[in-house]
Amino acid sequence: MSRRTLIAGNWKMYKTPFESREMVQELVALIGKDPEVEVLVCPPFTGLEAVEEVVSGTPVQLGAQNVHWENQGAFTGEISAGMLLECGCRYVIIGHSERRQYFEESDETINRKLRQVVDTQLVPILCVGESLEQREAGKVQEVIVGQLEQGLAGLSEAQISSLVLAYEPVWAIGTGRTATPEIAEQVHASIRDWLANHYSGELSDRLRILYGGSVKPENTAELMAQENLDGALVGGASLEAQSFARIVSEASSNDA
Ligand code: PGA
Repeated sequence: MSRRTLIAGNWKMYKTPFESREMVQELVALIGKDPEVEVLVCPPFTGLEAVEEVVSGTPVQLGAQNVHWENQGAFTGEISAGMLLECGCRYVIIGHSERRQYFEESDETINRKLRQVVDTQLVPILCVGESLEQREAGKVQEVIVGQLEQGLAGLSEAQISSLVLAYEPVWAIGTGRTATPEIAEQVHASIRDWLANHYSGELSDRLRILYGGSVKPENTAELMAQENLDGALVGGASLEAQSFARIVSEASSNDA
């Protein structure tokens, strides 16, 4: 089975365009010309152009953190898939738990965004994950299956095959509390089973499932050693070039 590891940095609302440029200049130098894993950075919208100028022609890819579900229109303050593509984006994060929590994104709006993006050249990274309360109530499976069912509703298997999934337990995001490799592996394996049952074994084998939540250089290797973890979505530890490059290198030793 060959699912290429993807190490993605989600910068959230950090870094001005100037700071973004400085950071990726250092990152590109540290990563070198031929990393073993795929490397992606997702700066704020305002940093996309500055970062694109630096990463263009290097192995570091560019992504955005959000997108609107229409390609244009009277939606003040929003950004479309077409705009992101023209800025050089290859990926876009959809349904991050902070969007769900603070901006009232529902599974329905997430589904609309996915439907808009799947037919473009942009690769959506669909985030799912349970809160601590839901975990403690024994509802992990139910919550994740619900997010997947509603998020992916109406998409064909061919469309879904172009996605990347990210499992991000909300209690592990920005808290320093990482899911143990065993907990993460268990959820990733259950997502893969669900995909196999609802779609096909082929799709289930093929989709990459990233893990996110307090990933740092020190815990990358043991997380990435799990069979069903195909990469990481990294917040805090992706903001600094040295630490993000270390995560890339720890993941690379596991990608063989
Ligand atoms: P964190 O964030 O690595 O800072 O926990 C992960 C994310 O929100 O994608």
